[in-house]
Parts: sequence; C-alpha cells; structure tokens
Amino acid sequence: MPESPHPPHKPGISRREFLSGTGLTAAATALIGPGETLGQADKAKAIATPGFGPKPVACELTVNGTRITVQIEPRVTLLDCLRHYMDVTGPKRVCDRGTCGACTVLLNGKPIYACTMLALEAQGKNIETPESLYQDGQLHRVPAAFAQYDAQQCGFCTPGFVMAMKGCFDRNPKATPAEVERCLAGNICRCGTYQQMRHALRSLCQKGG
Ligand code: FES
Ligand code: FES
Repeated sequence: MPESPHPPHKPGISRREFLSGTGLTAAATALIGPGETLGQADKAKAIATPGFGPKPVACELTVNGTRITVQIEPRVTLLDCLRHYMDVTGPKRVCDRGTCGACTVLLNGKPIYACTMLALEAQGKNIETPESLYQDGQLHRVPAAFAQYDAQQCGFCTPGFVMAMKGCFDRNPKATPAEVERCLAGNICRCGTYQQMRHALRSLCQKGG
C-alpha cells in the first residue's frame, strides 16, 4: 500500500490555535503605543481574553420571517451561511466578490450583496431571499413578469435582479422604468437578457409596481 502523503495528526496545539494565540498577542501589542510595553499582568490578561472565533459560534438569522440558528465560523459570509448552513439557495454565488449582484438579498428592505457581508453582521435584521417570492402557491408579480417576458437564460443572475427590483418597488411602488433601472445598476446579466427584463419592467410599471 502506498504511503499516505499526509503525516498522521499529532496531538498538541493546532496551526489554527497557534495563529489564534499569536493574533491575540499581536492585537494586545497593537493596543499600546510604540515604545511602550505591557506589564506582565496586562499581557496575561489580554491573552486570556476570549477571542471571537475562529471556532464556530452561534449565529441567529431571520430569513423570510423564520429565525434560524446555526454554528458557523465568524469568517462565513451571509451568502455561504444561507446556502451551505441554512439550505436557502435562492441567492446565487457567481463572482463572490461584490461585482455581479447574483447574490442580492434584501436586508431590512435594502438590497445588499450577500457575498460581501459576514453572516454575523446580519443578525437582528430582516433578511429576504428569492424564496420569499413564492407563497401559498402564488408567485410574486416581479418574478411572474420575468417568466412572462422570458427575462432569463441561464438564470444565475435572475434571482439577484428580481430581488433588487422587488426592493425598488417596495420602496417606491410608483417608480418609473428609469428609476427601477437605476436600482439595478449593481446587477449584471452575462446572457444579455436586458431587453426582456425591460419588457417585464415596463409591464410592472404599467400595473403600478
Ligand atoms: S456573487 Fe455576490 S456580487 Fe457576485
Ligand atoms: S440569465 Fe444568464 S447571466 Fe443572467
């Protein structure tokens, strides 16, 4: 049998624990000015102060009106928390760096990129995802218009566009097509279905949002 390339795990301090400890020491040092030194007692106290992560901590999010609590590492983004820990897969992961808008969700009614926010920062806020747009067998009028006017091809960008558009109409039900288009400035469709989206948008504006 070939030898495993990975040596067996040896008990002791892990790399992560080591980094966590050194991070605290560095943070403690950064808190004092140049040339100053911490007393032994201060240093021991700073190092003993419990850090925030990297081990999992409890995170409670209100997603589409339901409170969900999971254990996550503090570094987990809202997008990954929704998709991988809460099975809420409506927001899509495309660029994962705040440029495409596929991950758009509404946070207290405001569209945000879920890939650029930590899940822990979203605690205590009302999060709306594309899943909220299908209730009791009824499709919300925005995605219904997208379907009617064939405003999607691959569909990865579509949930983000739909959420951004819904957020816009929620804030101003009488928004004009030009105003709604400005709300969609942070969303990109690589398939180029903009014309069909415009048709859907015009139909929504004629109906009053
Ligand atoms: S996946 Fe978040 S902006 Fe692209
Ligand atoms: S439908 Fe393909 S990226 Fe928008």
